Amino acid sequence: MSALPTSLTLGSLRVDVPVVLAPMAGITNAAYRRLCAEQGAGLYVCEMITSRGLVEGDQHTRDMLVFDELETTRSVQLYGTDPVYVGKAAEILCAEYGVAHIDLNFGCPVPKVTRKGGGGALPWKRGLLAEILEQAVAAATPYGVPVTMKTRKGIDDDHLTYLDAGRIAQEAGCAAIALHGRTVAQAYSGAADWDAIAALVEHVDIPVLGNGDVWEAADAIRMVEQTGAAGVVVGRGCLGRPWLFRDLAAAFRGEEVATLPTLGEVAAMMRRHAELLCQHMGEERGCKEFRKHVSWYLKGFAAGGEMRRSLGLVDSLAALDRLLAELDPSEPFPVAELGSPRGRQGSPRERVVLPEGWLDDADGSGCHLQEDASETTGG
Ligand SMILES: Cc1cc2nc3c(=O)[nH]c(=O)nc-3n(C[C@H](O)[C@H](O)[C@H](O)COP(=O)(O)O)c2cc1C
Repeated sequence: MSALPTSLTLGSLRVDVPVVLAPMAGITNAAYRRLCAEQGAGLYVCEMITSRGLVEGDQHTRDMLVFDELETTRSVQLYGTDPVYVGKAAEILCAEYGVAHIDLNFGCPVPKVTRKGGGGALPWKRGLLAEILEQAVAAATPYGVPVTMKTRKGIDDDHLTYLDAGRIAQEAGCAAIALHGRTVAQAYSGAADWDAIAALVEHVDIPVLGNGDVWEAADAIRMVEQTGAAGVVVGRGCLGRPWLFRDLAAAFRGEEVATLPTLGEVAAMMRRHAELLCQHMGEERGCKEFRKHVSWYLKGFAAGGEMRRSLGLVDSLAALDRLLAELDPSEPFPVAELGSPRGRQGSPRERVVLPEGWLDDADGSGCHLQEDASETTGG
């Protein structure tokens, strides 16, 4: 068993703890990143933005590139299928937005994305993957900005891509590769395959970040111990539980901390989350965005259906305060929830939707894929 990593090095960037907030479309906006950062330490990646949208100045894309004033390490995930757009987008992120880290999304399982050969489908085209990574690295290197890629095991069990992707990422000059231990066909179902993470660690020299099914800080420690990963990427486990980052930071310091907030403390966290969303987006949109988090915060608590429904319709901070005041602040944390999955799970796909003939050629150099400017569905 190797020693526990205490920090994470991505090229010139040093992260105090080997913990990364997984990019999650519609979730990891500036407000949520700040909320998590207030709890712990780590790298907090912005939700995915599209290369083409950024290059063409699409307003929606630009609106997503908002950073909190306290966010000193700006980290952004780019989606792209065209090396030229990805290169240009990386240049814009470095030159205009002062980012310190760029991650590239090659894991998205959404049919709308894989149908066009994007996301988790793309690494099948080894040559095209290399071209995209090389362009991104070439654009970011003059700024000293590390580029990483995030991917899945492959399209399905018969079409695994992650070991080749790791080698290609390393050859292209990527600073690390993050592996979600599921195939595209699995979407979010079943269990993440940590053995694949270990196999990738064996296969490449660059740092490997392990991703999938870290629900508690102890899972993160188990993952790095079992796989030799340089760090962990945490997604669904922190939904409605930003304090998980406190526990993770403590765990990598060798302490065993499991924060178990009372309902009163959870309510205070909900208020803080809503307040940050409103600061960044205005009260109307901020409250609307907040609604999707309510059921995650209250998971396992006794709050009744009527209260949940009202919170799910909240339209002002004043209304939120009135509702939160009705909760029993002394209700203890529902410990039965610990270690259990939250957020998306779904079922496996019978068939991954791919462009016609996609699997016939595993190189795809110079291949031109239609890239959407407004792809926001995430991974
Ligand atoms: C709501 C949601 C949105 C996501 N959006 C993205 C995304 O934009 N980019 C990406 O690479 N992965 C995305 N993912 C995948 C996560 O980053 C992560 O790989 C996955 O959830 C597995 O990690 P976990 O078990 O810790 O959740 C998303 C996941 C969820 C649940």
